[in-house]
Amino acid sequence: MVARNQHLIPITWGPSVKFSIVQFFVAFLFVVFFVAALYTAREYVTYNMIPLSLDDTFSHDSEPECNLFSGKWVFDNTSYPLYKEKDCKFMSDQLACNKFGREDSSYQNWRWQPDHCDLPRFNATKLLERLRNKRMVFVGDSLNRGQWVSMVCLLDSSIHDPKMKYMNYNGSNLIAFKALGYNASVEFYWAPLLVESNSDDPVNHRLPERIVRSQSIEKHARVWTDADILIFNSYLWWRRPHIKVLWGSFEDGNGIYKEVEMLRSYEMALKTWSDWLEIQVDRAKTQLFFISMSPTHERAEEWGASKGQSCYSETDLITKEGYIGSGTDPKMMRIVENSIDELKTRGLKVDIINITQLSEYRKEGHPSIYRKQWEPLSEEQITNPSSYSDCIHWCLPGVPDVWNELLYSYIFRQ
Ligand SMILES: *[C@@H]1O[C@H](CO)[C@@H](O)[C@H](O)[C@H]1NC(C)=O
Ligand SMILES: *[C@@H]1O[C@H](CO)[C@@H](O)[C@H](O)[C@H]1NC(C)=O
Ligand SMILES: *[C@@H]1O[C@H](CO)[C@@H](O)[C@H](O)[C@H]1NC(C)=O
Ligand SMILES: *[C@@H]1O[C@H](CO)[C@@H](O)[C@H](O)[C@H]1NC(C)=O
Ligand SMILES: *[C@@H]1O[C@H](CO)[C@@H](O)[C@H](O)[C@H]1NC(C)=O
Repeated sequence: MVARNQHLIPITWGPSVKFSIVQFFVAFLFVVFFVAALYTAREYVTYNMIPLSLDDTFSHDSEPECNLFSGKWVFDNTSYPLYKEKDCKFMSDQLACNKFGREDSSYQNWRWQPDHCDLPRFNATKLLERLRNKRMVFVGDSLNRGQWVSMVCLLDSSIHDPKMKYMNYNGSNLIAFKALGYNASVEFYWAPLLVESNSDDPVNHRLPERIVRSQSIEKHARVWTDADILIFNSYLWWRRPHIKVLWGSFEDGNGIYKEVEMLRSYEMALKTWSDWLEIQVDRAKTQLFFISMSPTHERAEEWGASKGQSCYSETDLITKEGYIGSGTDPKMMRIVENSIDELKTRGLKVDIINITQLSEYRKEGHPSIYRKQWEPLSEEQITNPSSYSDCIHWCLPGVPDVWNELLYSYIFRQ
């Protein structure tokens, strides 16, 4: 019935233009022809553009975005390291492995090569221009702080005049690198569990018991909410079976405490975090990122070395494809992904910088014993270096520089 009368049904296009079915077919043919012509032209253009490829852009611009996180490490001692340890005035003694006696240096020479495209070259000047009159804030734990130090070193190396940069630290949770010529601020905010916790003191936070106020983030968030680029992480401080959750304030004696299974408390904290972002962040202005879990290499038997050893004395990479150590908790990863997917349905985009797998291969990238020790070592420790090796953080220059190259490419991708 409908079909028989179809030629009588006007097809409206705007308020007054009407087509008959014949006119419609003519128009349809025209559109088909036009699209075909365009498609041919486009193929031609793409074909001719292949040799132009990459200076600092993606090679596959018109294709679905390439997965930068799947790839391999390539030894490259001509382009890497991207800066010299001793030239970075803002280097941290926790990460300056060479300064603290590490003699092998190949950990500085690895480039990450994604499978189907190339990473754009990190151009500090270009990033500083992007950050002109802006704030970029890393929020999280000491791994995020390491990435921030790496970022500062990467930017620092392009600002030659020492009067044009300084570090601003007033004893709070916030520390800021300022590039004066650009009025750019690159900051780190200490909040290892993102929400409020009893580990929030930037210096004295190693407490035997962990307590979080998983409903409360505003004390931290008010400091970073208006930033232009926000980079979060939170993982390591959750790694225990249960976390004590507090309803009420730390000062108020009437708070209610409850031991909550870790994954559940992590979920609660990320819910608080995402609710805050959804309501408070200016989505027209702020770019949001979450750095996935940083793997640890504390048990050498996991990669086939002797039991009782750690990352100490390792100098080469794990070559087994898809290797995942026991320090990585995929369940926590899922919780992050779910929170971020959920935020997406609420119209807020957070990109995950998925550094987990690529860093898993880098068992030689940690400081082990080559870092500042905060307490004097005992005889027993000295005879067994593995017992006090740091197989959690990363030497700089090193792995976090690559995380920043990935972050860099995302900052310009959006
Ligand atoms: C780079 O590594 C190769 C092979 O290990 C070595 O022969 C060469 O001297 C190195 N170059 C630099 C600049 O370190
Ligand atoms: C880095 O970026 C700046 C500013 O965008 C540009 O002028 C310069 O040519 C770039 N350098 C390289 C090596 O691509
Ligand atoms: C300098 O940067 C800050 C952000 O860190 C911004 O609020 C301020 O407006 C900038 N100053 C000028 C003069 O643009
Ligand atoms: C330190 O800086 C932060 C952030 O700008 C500010 O909130 C805090 O009040 C400052 N603290 C002191 C002691 O000046
Ligand atoms: C990150 O990569 C790992 C390993 O390749 C994968 O299992 C995980 O799902 C990825 N996460 C995201 C958010 O892409």
